[in-house]
Amino acid sequence: MILQVLSFGLFLKVLLLPGSNLAPVTEQNLEISTITTVPSNETKADFRFTGRYRLINSTNFDSFLSELGLGYFTRKLVCATQSEYIITYDRSDETHSLKTVTLLRESEIRFRDGVEFIENRIDGEKVRTVIKIDKNRWIQKQFVKPEVTIVREFDNNLINNTFTINDVVSIRVYEKVSDIDEESVQLDDEVEDY
Ligand SMILES: *[C@@H]1O[C@H](CO)[C@@H](O)[C@H](O)[C@H]1NC(C)=O
Ligand SMILES: *[C@@H]1O[C@H](CO)[C@@H](O)[C@H](O)[C@H]1NC(C)=O
Ligand SMILES: *[C@@H]1O[C@H](CO)[C@@H](O)[C@H](O)[C@H]1NC(C)=O
Repeated sequence: MILQVLSFGLFLKVLLLPGSNLAPVTEQNLEISTITTVPSNETKADFRFTGRYRLINSTNFDSFLSELGLGYFTRKLVCATQSEYIITYDRSDETHSLKTVTLLRESEIRFRDGVEFIENRIDGEKVRTVIKIDKNRWIQKQFVKPEVTIVREFDNNLINNTFTINDVVSIRVYEKVSDIDEESVQLDDEVEDY
């Protein structure tokens, strides 16, 4: 309910902010920016995930959110909103951070490879989650019924995200828009959502 009210306010904001760089987008038909394929010379063992990425293509996300139990209005809003990932890595405790930034909300998950944590999900559920890193892929499982799997495949400057719940599969592709200097990033203390 709170999310819906909040969402409505932000929905108006989306409509009223034509100059925003987080322009509303439509599923299936996102405008794709030029994809530069810079060959990576990173080794697999030291794959560089960090950076700022922007959503460039999304398929079936509405159905995924519907299976999660999100209402119609919230789903339409989420699907029509541009989204960015900010991925950082803290060497000191080997913690990865994935921040999702949209006009609607900002959320973050922080994890260590293969170590279970509690995730505050977009639908309000708190779920046990684990992310295992396999070369250039983050394989995430949420231990709930129905089980949710999210595979994020990093390939050059793209992340190919596959969201699976029951027999519903949604693919969302993000493109890197800038690098992030690992050393300069300060993580804040709040950990929530995805
Ligand atoms: C590869 O390594 C060199 C030397 O460390 C570096 O200058 C360059 O930016 C790296 N990346 C690519 C894509 O060549
Ligand atoms: C987006 O993904 C769909 C389904 O995979 C594909 O048919 C479409 O060509 C993609 N669009 C762009 C702009 O990449
Ligand atoms: C993303 O992954 C899906 C499923 O493996 C694949 O069909 C699709 O072609 C991939 N898209 C990109 C841009 O790599």
